[in-house]
Amino acid sequence: MTKDGAPALRMDSVRKVYPTGDEEVVALDHATLTIDHEEIVALVGPSGSGKTTLCSIAGGILSPTAGTVVVAGADITGYSARRLTDFRREHVGFVFQTVNLVPFLTARENLLVVDEIGRRTGAPARKRADQLLEELGLAGRGRHLPATLSGGQRQRVAIGRALMNDPDLVLFDEPTSALDTQLGEQVMELIRDEMNSRGIAAVVVTHDERMTHYADRTVHITDGVLEGSPPR
Ligand SMILES: Nc1ncnc2c1ncn2[C@@H]1O[C@H](COP(=O)(O)OP(=O)(O)OP(=O)(O)O)[C@@H](O)[C@H]1O
Ligand SMILES: [Mg+2]
Repeated sequence: MTKDGAPALRMDSVRKVYPTGDEEVVALDHATLTIDHEEIVALVGPSGSGKTTLCSIAGGILSPTAGTVVVAGADITGYSARRLTDFRREHVGFVFQTVNLVPFLTARENLLVVDEIGRRTGAPARKRADQLLEELGLAGRGRHLPATLSGGQRQRVAIGRALMNDPDLVLFDEPTSALDTQLGEQVMELIRDEMNSRGIAAVVVTHDERMTHYADRTVHITDGVLEGSPPR
């Protein structure tokens, strides 16, 4: 459970406008969403509908143009960039579609790199990394460079990295889109089990409706508007 029993995420009337040249792109409008602690929400929508924008705002990578964002009971809406960085490190995990492991570090080092900037360092961090690698079925792969891992293994390293700091909320942006269906199912199952056993809430972005049965709830997004949100 989050520190004070607050929902893992509360977004209220969030709007995001990207200024691009002479035209503005409204990527998110009136987005209102509450995610309970320990809840897994699938976010489904076509390309360009605002899924990555929503995740970036929920995780404090981007600031909203309007509206409020409360993560694990903390209203991060007005946080400075510096404070957001600290907040993310303590409370949020990210897993991206393109995995983005550091190519010249081993699987184990990719987990540890989080902690060089995080709160656990030295021996406790190495112990935690080894424990996570084992739980994720990568015990024998700690010394492998990403290029020598399979797609599913790389995705599992990315999941391990997101779990290193015991986050309250993990944002998965299309974690299965680079995987075939069977591997995608395995990774979704792993995500669900890891989140459930740790009591962590998650948003899982997917294009694939078949993946949504691993979530507690599915929310659709179209043209920056979440289904069920109040009308503009
Ligand atoms: N940095 C940016 N500057 C300007 N426009 C942007 C920027 N990032 C995203 N957009 C626009 O905002 C809208 C939402 O983009 P977003 O990346 O959130 O969509 P998405 O649902 O994640 O799409 P995909 O499924 O293709 O990843 C799109 O129209 C996109 O072109
Ligand atoms: Mg996206």
